[in-house]
Amino acid sequence: MATVQEKTAETSPVGSESSREALTIVDRRTGRSYEVPITHGTIRAIDLRQIKTGPGDFGLMAYDPAYMNTASCTSRITYIDGDKGILRYRGYPIEQLAEKCTYLEVSYLLLYGELPNARQYEEWVHNITYHTMIHESLKKLMDTFNHDSHPMGMLIATVAAMSTFYPDARDIHDPDSRTRQTYRLIAKMPTLAAFAYKHSLGMPYVYPDNDLSYSENFLNMLFKMPAAHGYRPNPTLVKALDVLFILHADHEQNCGTAVMRSIGSSHADPYSAVAGAAAALYGPLHGGANEEVLKMLREIGSVSRVPEFIGEVKQGKGGKRLMGFGHRVYKNFDPRAKIIKRMAEEVFSVTGRNPLLDIALELERIALQDDYFVQRKLYPNVDFYSGLIYQAIGIPTAAFTVLFAIPRTSGWIAQWRELLEDSEQKIARPRQVYLGPAERSFIPMEKR
Ligand code: CMC
Repeated sequence: MATVQEKTAETSPVGSESSREALTIVDRRTGRSYEVPITHGTIRAIDLRQIKTGPGDFGLMAYDPAYMNTASCTSRITYIDGDKGILRYRGYPIEQLAEKCTYLEVSYLLLYGELPNARQYEEWVHNITYHTMIHESLKKLMDTFNHDSHPMGMLIATVAAMSTFYPDARDIHDPDSRTRQTYRLIAKMPTLAAFAYKHSLGMPYVYPDNDLSYSENFLNMLFKMPAAHGYRPNPTLVKALDVLFILHADHEQNCGTAVMRSIGSSHADPYSAVAGAAAALYGPLHGGANEEVLKMLREIGSVSRVPEFIGEVKQGKGGKRLMGFGHRVYKNFDPRAKIIKRMAEEVFSVTGRNPLLDIALELERIALQDDYFVQRKLYPNVDFYSGLIYQAIGIPTAAFTVLFAIPRTSGWIAQWRELLEDSEQKIARPRQVYLGPAERSFIPMEKR
């Protein structure tokens, strides 16, 4: 570990060669100055600890609620340049992957660092396809949910329950076990999601069909009726879903992924960690926003009501936000939103135009010219248009976030595996700044 040097006349005067990749800090409390090494544009927060007022002082900490400016890991998986609107998986631009790959090729890329060759791909697809069935007892567990349970609640609970079916998953240090759980998680998430949907309708579950591709099989489990023969998912819709899966597969250290890494850092099994990550994703500020966008478009109801709605958002009426807009990292167009917007036309050529699209386009048009949104650099994010496509495909609003969780599972596992192989990582354990009462004596109940 690089250490902080207290700066004296002999050590690295500012501007000298050795101080160039360093930060000079002057502690006005003591008059001392320090050189903190800079690597990859960051200083190590632990280095600050050596800056003290005296021997009894704990040392300086960085205070960063919501990790606004803290890197918690190094990673080689996903690159984002939020100002330029760039997203790459393992160096490949998202636009190229969305156009040329299948989702399973991309999930292999995320997990193993390279695109698969033909033999690796065949083997990978085989291994995922042959793990799509879920244990019958897990199916019975799903039966116990109320018919109106939210699909995300069912998904989170059943993924967590999977850890009880695969006790070998606790052996996280065994690479073979990690591989088995990887297959199982990526393969079974669509089955759990589709069963959750069928359960909410009170319809019989449709089992996975190994003759179908990943996305085709998912649509088949969602929409095939056991009594009706001959259902075949439309190829345009299959392709659209596969592209949506690619776009959602990873997004570096977002809220859900940070939870995945945090739970993973305690060496819990990956099912428990994925359940936690999916719970974080469920929130309306994160993956739950796609569901909220649809509710918002329905609430607005017509193109003519858009200016009034934008006015309410700007006034912050009832904490109202323009859902599907804004991003912690992107201060420019979310590249995923651009791809989805283009794809919407293809989908609508099959399904018919979604009338809510006109409201969305008008919202975008007005917001992109309005000072409030321009000054805050608020642009459409991935969730703004994805819900319109899901709806056109026939997926109910409540199931939208489930469609985010299915592909994000590849990213979560890739990040989890990277964490476990990173010798610098330890159990996640943030510090706090305690502002509560100083020590005081207990007061008996009758005197309170
Ligand atoms: N509508 C109206 N105002 C907004 C919005 C919005 N969607 N997003 C941010 N702002 C305002 C916010 O009120 C604040 O204004 P002020 O400076 O006057 O207080 C300013 O912009 C900065 O917002 P912030 O909340 O500090 O930004 P953040 O980085 O903490 O939040 C966000 C990012 C995504 C949570 C937020 O933009 C938001 O709530 N968007 C709507 C929900 C949404 O679409 N979420 C999906 C994100 S993309 C998918 C994913 O990765 O999960």
